[in-house]
Amino acid sequence: MSLTKDERTDLVHRAMAVRHRAYAPYSNYAVGAAILTADGDVFEGVNIENASYPLSICAERTALFQAVSHGKRTFRAIAVATDNGGSPCGACRQVLSEFGMDTIVYLVDGSGEITLETSVGKLLPNAFTPDHLGRG
Ligand code: THU
Repeated sequence: MSLTKDERTDLVHRAMAVRHRAYAPYSNYAVGAAILTADGDVFEGVNIENASYPLSICAERTALFQAVSHGKRTFRAIAVATDNGGSPCGACRQVLSEFGMDTIVYLVDGSGEITLETSVGKLLPNAFTPDHLGRG
């Protein structure tokens, strides 16, 4: 179900506000994410890089893992804030897909503009899902 204007504005602001906490000394590409649960909670995350580069984690997964760690498994939307409207990487698309294809995805640029409104399903067509393991 789509978000109200207020819900969308709040989610976008939360993603933008958390972005300054990104730990991105190697790429200097700060990402903030905020995910809205079915019951109205919002969890935030940032990208956290590591000197061992592959161990870095994206903001979307940080936010999602925070939410799941708080017992949330149903999501309505995620907002992803970057300087230039960057899109979730393939790994984040796959991880988000575990919890539903209909989750709305808002890409937000440095000025707070929503550059794209899409969904996990649109970002990851023909996904490998829990259904394939008989866990749908
Ligand atoms: N990054 C994210 O946080 N989310 C994405 O979906 C794309 C990439 C981060 C990872 C890394 O810290 C930096 O952006 C540059 O790749």
